[in-house]
Amino acid sequence: MPAIAVIGAQWGDEGKGKVIDLLAEKAGVVVRFSGGDNAGHTVVNPYGEFRLHLVPCGIFYPQAVCIIGNGVVINPAVLIDEIDQLNQRGVDTTRLFISDRANLIMPYHILLDGLEEESRAGKALGTTRKGIGPAFADKAARLGIRTGDLLDKERLLERLRLTLDYKNIILTKVYEVSPLSLDEVYNQYCQYGERLAPHIRETTIMLEEALNRGELVLLEGAQGALLDPDFGTYPYTTSSSPLAGGGCLGTGLSPTRINRILGVFKAYCTRVGAGPMPTELKDETSDLIRERGHEYGTTTGRPRRCGWFDAVAARFSTRINGFTGAAITRIDVLDTLPRLKICVGYKLDGHTIDYFPGNVATLERCQPIYEELPGWQTPTSHIRQYEQLPPKARQYIARLEELTSCPVNLISIGKAREQTIHKMPIL
Ligand code: GDP
Ligand code: IMO
Ligand code: MG
Repeated sequence: MPAIAVIGAQWGDEGKGKVIDLLAEKAGVVVRFSGGDNAGHTVVNPYGEFRLHLVPCGIFYPQAVCIIGNGVVINPAVLIDEIDQLNQRGVDTTRLFISDRANLIMPYHILLDGLEEESRAGKALGTTRKGIGPAFADKAARLGIRTGDLLDKERLLERLRLTLDYKNIILTKVYEVSPLSLDEVYNQYCQYGERLAPHIRETTIMLEEALNRGELVLLEGAQGALLDPDFGTYPYTTSSSPLAGGGCLGTGLSPTRINRILGVFKAYCTRVGAGPMPTELKDETSDLIRERGHEYGTTTGRPRRCGWFDAVAARFSTRINGFTGAAITRIDVLDTLPRLKICVGYKLDGHTIDYFPGNVATLERCQPIYEELPGWQTPTSHIRQYEQLPPKARQYIARLEELTSCPVNLISIGKAREQTIHKMPIL
């Protein structure tokens, strides 16, 4: 009956897609629990290279049922397009199910995400502009329209009329843009509903039954802990919880049913969008990491900000998630560097601190305190056994384990499934 949550431990894009694709070989169910199509999860496997935004990364295995949980906000157009693209490339999607409780991203959410960003002028958050924030705001305001509503056209019309009247006032009076047509949005969403109906159902029972049958259930995290709206660098965060705790709320699984929590860390740090990142580099090392690691956003194509591994942030992330183990990805990207740095503390207003401040203004004043380690300067992508890694690479990994107090289960040294070192069993 094991359930394993796979959680982004930094600012997203840690390689969750790769790890899920790897672990899903033995899974009965893979369930996404947060975010929406702001996520971009890359999978490289015998079918090719895929960038999944909504469909869980277990979809490539015929035995794995894939669920988009209630905690995800769904843009139906993006989901239908993703299903079509998977089908065109020979991937079966009949085992994909969508919680009837998941909220929908509506056209006004996408419009408002862009308009709100523009109105923030120099203080834009750098959102993906996919409508995520406005959709979660409506969920909390109880204005949301849910996938289940697509199955009842009268209810859909009633919910949409109520909300759209109000949204059109904001669009026209506050932002002075054209209103949306009720007929057009309604007809469009009726079509989406007809297309998605075979996938929409009550999904909490499916999870419960899979666990009772003794199957492995994987919870696929999106984003990363430092983008959590409570514990991340607020307001430079996303709008749903990427934490292990979010895995319960976004699926209907009780915390007592989650057996392992695997934190996925990059061997360094990256971030897309605005907000503090204490170890950010703006020099040739950052360019080198970006180019060697192709650090460009999977969803928006924006260059990712790159910097050294931040062990202060990592320790915080380990604590608030309760990681039982870690996957360290992209070790190979560091292969050519002569020296590596790890941030072990922050200098704040003349004092040394070892915790991650809750206030962004405080975090912005933090200067990283680094420890230096020698680089291994040897290729690692072909290595499959931990003992075969260069001693300096093992030293680097051991130091990350020590600083975060989190044992390393997996080490990734390339994009492909097989480019993985199993250091210690997860279960
Ligand atoms: P996710 O959002 O956490 O699933 O991560 P993304 O897919 O957005 O970004 C991770 C990127 O790193 C993808 O392009 C992966 O193919 C790639 N990747 C994952 N693990 C490794 C690794 O160990 N080495 C290298 N070089 N690339 C990796
Ligand atoms: P995966 O699952 C990296 C970031 C955006 C922005 C902030 C708010 O691929 O790791 P939003 O559109 O959510 O309102 O944007 O959050 N962000 C991500 N960064 N990876 C992601 O997902 C992200 N999802 C959101 O860049 O800074
Ligand atoms: Mg990503």
